[in-house]
Amino acid sequence: MRIIVTGGSGKLGAVVVESLRAADHTVVVFDKAARRGEGVPVDLTDAGEVLDAVAGVEDLHEGVDAIVHLAAIPAPGIRPDVATFENNVLGTHHVFQAARRAGVRRIVTASSETLLGLPMTVPPEYFPVDEEVTLPNSTYSMGKLLEEQMALTFCRWDPALSITAMRFSNVMVEEDYAGFEAWQDDPAVRRWNAWGYIDARDAADAIRLALEVRGPGFERYIIANADTVMRTPSAELAAAEFPGVPFRRPVEGTGTLLSIDKARRELGWSPSRSWRDAQG
Ligand SMILES: NC(=O)c1ccc[n+]([C@@H]2O[C@H](COP(=O)([O-])OP(=O)(O)OC[C@H]3O[C@@H](n4cnc5c(N)ncnc54)[C@H](O)[C@@H]3O)[C@@H](O)[C@H]2O)c1
Repeated sequence: MRIIVTGGSGKLGAVVVESLRAADHTVVVFDKAARRGEGVPVDLTDAGEVLDAVAGVEDLHEGVDAIVHLAAIPAPGIRPDVATFENNVLGTHHVFQAARRAGVRRIVTASSETLLGLPMTVPPEYFPVDEEVTLPNSTYSMGKLLEEQMALTFCRWDPALSITAMRFSNVMVEEDYAGFEAWQDDPAVRRWNAWGYIDARDAADAIRLALEVRGPGFERYIIANADTVMRTPSAELAAAEFPGVPFRRPVEGTGTLLSIDKARRELGWSPSRSWRDAQG
């Protein structure tokens, strides 16, 4: 496939671009931070630029089969809330609208685990937390919800359109794993997302599978690694930090408390990395 990756210069994007190229897809990066030769420095909040660049860019592409939309301010608290809202929600709208006008019918878009009620100040109703939970607690997260809602609407307007929203857990690259040791003595430090994480390479695998296997329509998936960031068993962590929260099914050992059952079942995805493998 010929694929545009927005945010391809970012933390997750760089790994996704490498992974898609390794699978023989042709990738064009759109990122306002892209350096010459690395991609096109498109500002996604500029509707005209996005529409034109999705339709074609001289010497680079004359149309694509799919878009992986990762560009965003990636968390609350990085920029003023209104800047995060404007950048992320407007940019996502313009990407979806440009795809619609240019006839691109396959999109994978970055949503966020924040929609699962993070920072979990109010305990979740049950474990493992799944896609039925949609509880934004920040402007960033509300923006991601509006983006999922836009995706649903664009798919309703065009029954041939496929949009997959990935509710990524906290994205990690290999260099981050050395820092995990510091969390082991205090479960409270990573309580805010129920000790989840996603290795960028496993996230890239999920994106590639969604591009390859999903049919038309909208779906959302939690994408997290199969284990937590902790050595303490998950049931013990939950009992200490979220007493009384029931389990809908048992979670063995250090298994994730963020349900990835839907992604396993429907995408055939299975995360294969763990921070534990990087420990010396
Ligand atoms: N990092 C995480 O833990 C995490 C967790 C869940 C979801 N996500 C989502 O995953 C995606 C990727 O996150 P990341 O960690 O790689 O972020 P990042 O900040 O490393 O990369 C984002 C990239 O998007 C580009 N960008 C931002 N606004 C743009 C605009 N208006 N026009 C063009 N380019 C723009 C930036 O230049 C940057 O290169 C984001 O959508 C983020 O919300 C991230």
